[in-house]
Amino acid sequence: MTPYIGKSVNRVDGGAKVTGKAKYAAEYFAPDLLYGWVISSGIAKGKITRFHTEKALNLPGVVQVFTHENRPGIACFDLSYKDQDAPPGSPFRPLRDEKIHFSGQPIALVVAETLELARYASSLIRVDYEEEDHETVLEHNLHRAREPKSGVASLLKSPPPKPRGDFDKAFEVAPFQTTGLHLHSVEHHNPMEMFASTVVYEKNGKLTIYDKTQGAPNSQLYVSQVFNLPFKDVRVISPYVGGAFGSGLRPQYQLFLAVLAARELKRSVRVSLTRQQMFTFGHRPATVQQVSLGATADGTIDAIRHDAIAETSRFEDYFEIVVNWAGMLYPAPNVKFTYKLVPLDTFTPLDMRAPGGATGVPALEMEVDELAHQLGIDPLELRLKNYTERDMNQDLPYSSKELRECFRQGAERFGWANRNPAPRSMRNGHTLIGWGMATGIWEATQGPSRAEAVLTVNGKLRVTSATADIGTGTYTIMTQIAADTLGMPIEDVLFRLGDSDMPLAPIEGGSWTAATVGTAVKVACEALGKKLFKMAQKMVNSPFANARFDDVVFVDAHIRLKNNPYEAVSLLEIVGQNGGRAVSETSTSLPNMLEQRKYARAVHSAVFVEVEVDEDFGTVRVTRAVTAVAGGRILNPKTARSQLIGGMVWGISKALEEESVMDHQFGRFMNHNLAEYHIAVNADIPDMDVIFVEENDPIVNPLGVKGLGEIGIVGMPAAVANAVFHATGKRVRSLPITLDKLL
Ligand code: MOS
Repeated sequence: MTPYIGKSVNRVDGGAKVTGKAKYAAEYFAPDLLYGWVISSGIAKGKITRFHTEKALNLPGVVQVFTHENRPGIACFDLSYKDQDAPPGSPFRPLRDEKIHFSGQPIALVVAETLELARYASSLIRVDYEEEDHETVLEHNLHRAREPKSGVASLLKSPPPKPRGDFDKAFEVAPFQTTGLHLHSVEHHNPMEMFASTVVYEKNGKLTIYDKTQGAPNSQLYVSQVFNLPFKDVRVISPYVGGAFGSGLRPQYQLFLAVLAARELKRSVRVSLTRQQMFTFGHRPATVQQVSLGATADGTIDAIRHDAIAETSRFEDYFEIVVNWAGMLYPAPNVKFTYKLVPLDTFTPLDMRAPGGATGVPALEMEVDELAHQLGIDPLELRLKNYTERDMNQDLPYSSKELRECFRQGAERFGWANRNPAPRSMRNGHTLIGWGMATGIWEATQGPSRAEAVLTVNGKLRVTSATADIGTGTYTIMTQIAADTLGMPIEDVLFRLGDSDMPLAPIEGGSWTAATVGTAVKVACEALGKKLFKMAQKMVNSPFANARFDDVVFVDAHIRLKNNPYEAVSLLEIVGQNGGRAVSETSTSLPNMLEQRKYARAVHSAVFVEVEVDEDFGTVRVTRAVTAVAGGRILNPKTARSQLIGGMVWGISKALEEESVMDHQFGRFMNHNLAEYHIAVNADIPDMDVIFVEENDPIVNPLGVKGLGEIGIVGMPAAVANAVFHATGKRVRSLPITLDKLL
């Protein structure tokens, strides 16, 4: 019935990626292209008193140095700078004035005929500053923690739920209690591709912009608003993205600078950031969390409290869901959740793969493990004992939840039953062996989206939507959905994305793209199918003259009568009757809110990890990992598995390695390169197993998919940390767990 959905179809963009045919934002050329080099602030707070640009400007080939002193007039209201992922507050405006808000702030753009010249010229520019004291240490500023400003930025960001029951009383009388203070460091996204924009200045003054972004329409909106240009004069194109992980959910400052220069100079301009400059904007915020659990002797969790304090910038209130997860995972009747922010002199944090989930769930799941240890109950048993079919925050049943089955299949694959519960009980010489597990959860959401489906005169199906593919497999699964909906061979289907001229789709994030854009593609193809059917009915001697739409199927590029498949018309024949023109339909798909609001919707996972810890050196190696995930219908097991594995790799990396270290004397990240910012490499990653426990869920969306981009990371850090505890008997609650913390 469905020849492609559910199959491990190879990536349709794979060939372009491996042959270099896929072009990225900084690889597009234009006649007379100019190159911009960004100068970053050397101080964290204060103001610029003077630029010394003469030497640079005297170099032949240097065209201009843009600073706040000579920038043209642009939008002056905050609102114009708000992109689709902007949190409450006043967005950062590059080159606004002399004030410095964070270290690395872009303060000038040197524009020259070559990249090398722009870079060299920038080295000749001196800047005088008047420095002010800056505050960048979260832990020193906890007394300033306050509620986030209201104003919801996106689908996934609801404030902590109200307390239920009486946490204080229930916790006080609980015979078993745990309380842990959890510290997480700042992390940076570190995609392979640096942020870049190539702005092509067209003859008529219109702009064609190749931008690195998770949403071409988002960059178009930003440029139009900030530079007061009509939408139709700004086209943003972004067919391929070399990794983003959330960093592309907001337009970055190179886009602003490149557009500014192109408009002023009336020439095409490219600006690409350096790896160091990739550490000068959004990041996963540092957090301080406290989790308290109270339980009865039989392992019933009665009381849960989760408090989090996160950093934000002085100008925007970035917030994410850190503390709400306990109310979705456990049925405890007495709960209290708080989430506060401390504004610091840094750039605004930004969504990073499973924003908030990869922070809050690890803290919660490490404390659940500690509670199991104190109770003398197996950690898996404790979770089964405190299983919930309802999201207690919303007091709604889950539309589907096969987490129990994830626990069962994951445990079986891992061999969890053979675990000796005592810490330090499993060893091999000087190597301590630890087994840990944890639960993961992420919301399954669907937003509105548009898509266009076209049957060309050659009988090929062309489908477009202005979404993005950040390496997740969007191209491939959309092609599968389109092919199946109209019964076309996949070779005859082309799905295109990443162009603001295409039908509008939301930014690609939150694991919502398969559900959101997938539904739009399905709906557009169905609408096209209906149109083709009507055309077929009008053909001479049509076999469908007396048929209804429900009486036919689309298979083998034909419309066929269900009860007599030999009565058929090929799609090519139908389009052939259209006077040499293609047949197209554009549709908007909206979530079925009336149905969806009766349910909580989430994807769940159970994670099992084995670590080896060197007893003398404290080095940790993950040697095995299994994730069993309940993520609705799996459109493509191959791309789905890759998403899960990518998340698991990052989970290991987060647990053991990733940390942006700031030199607080300068308020500047020190390890702003891939030599000193440690991420997991091949040698750190063992064989990993992914099990999909399929769910049949017609509520989440017509495709029944839940989204898999983020769930892979959520449960992993706690599973690793819990395995380290089991190996060593040490409960390290500050991530990453580096060897110094184990010695
Ligand atoms: Mo994701 S952090 O929503 O790209």
